Amino acid sequence: MRKILVTGGTGYIGSHTVVELFQAGYTPVIVDNLSNSSVQILDQIEKIIGVKPEFHQFDLCDTAKTTTFVQNNPDITGIIHFAASKAVGESVIDPLKYYSNNFFSLLNLLNAYKDKPVNFVFSSSCTVYGEPDELPVTESAPVKKAASPYGNTKQIAEEILEETANAYDNYNVIALRYFNPVGAHHTALIGELPIGVPQNLLPFITQTAIGKREKLTVFGNDYDTPDGSCIRDFIHVVDLAKAHVAAIQLLEKGNPNGKYDVFNVGTGNGYSVLEAIGAFEKVSGQKLNYVIGPRREGDIIKVWGDVAKSSQELGWKAELGIDEMMASAWAWEKYLKEHPIG
Ligand code: UD1
Repeated sequence: MRKILVTGGTGYIGSHTVVELFQAGYTPVIVDNLSNSSVQILDQIEKIIGVKPEFHQFDLCDTAKTTTFVQNNPDITGIIHFAASKAVGESVIDPLKYYSNNFFSLLNLLNAYKDKPVNFVFSSSCTVYGEPDELPVTESAPVKKAASPYGNTKQIAEEILEETANAYDNYNVIALRYFNPVGAHHTALIGELPIGVPQNLLPFITQTAIGKREKLTVFGNDYDTPDGSCIRDFIHVVDLAKAHVAAIQLLEKGNPNGKYDVFNVGTGNGYSVLEAIGAFEKVSGQKLNYVIGPRREGDIIKVWGDVAKSSQELGWKAELGIDEMMASAWAWEKYLKEHPIG
């Protein structure tokens, strides 16, 4: 059973990827410092897959611990690197936290693997496209100046990884550019666990519906879009998790495109914020208390991905639609109410 290191494996996307890796026949090994996740997620994963995944709690920014871990685990052949800080707003307030966390960890990992063959999958983001000139946006669209330090860490990390893969024989890298991950596992045993007030749309919707938040504010309905609200390419987190398995498999086979490659991971469909709310209300049977508020600074107006390259060359395609995204997010929120995780 090939061992895959999943950094940030107790987090939202990481935990779903651990499940999908295991179900595809891999042995996931989690490293997480639990700065933005709960150790209880390991028990939740066990309820789904029947075994508790191997877990190591430390911070990848710690060079000595990272190096020791890599030396002690010579049978790891692939890395999926999720561990990073990811709140756009916080990154503007505290950019040094973002540059430190996201780069020290990445560089420690790359340095520790400098002499070992390794397949590396990186969590990137559609944020690298900024406001795209053409939609759907393809992987060859220009990377725009980042709107936040968070976005900049993704852009710079992609450059570091491309140069690293091209310079050293042992690295083969795929960066996955996620659109907007939402939803939860169909068992409702794992899902997104935002700490404090959610910044992202879906957890805010479900927390409002369950009564944890009084109301949702839609940030602007005067954009140049059909209903005036922003448009996003929402992607079910389980589909997104499967894209990581596909990326590892492509790297294992040998990627004909070369040592570094980039793929969009979305559905290819755009839904507006108001359409997402409508879909949630439909599948949950709940009327959502929401108001229209001012625009949020820095928001992209509309973005959705061209997924032809992913489907043709990565061999991956999203299977779950907006209704499944909303229904699973709602089931998870209801599960959490009965079984708090913290
Ligand atoms: C952004 C980044 C994404 C990053 C994510 C991390 C882009 C295109 N995307 O996602 O790469 O990983 O942040 O946080 O830059 N909204 C409301 N009310 C709310 C919350 C959100 O109306 O209470 C609206 C936003 O204005 C936006 C949409 O919902 O139009 C989605 O927002 P959000 O979930 O925060 O994700 P992005 O900003 O698209």
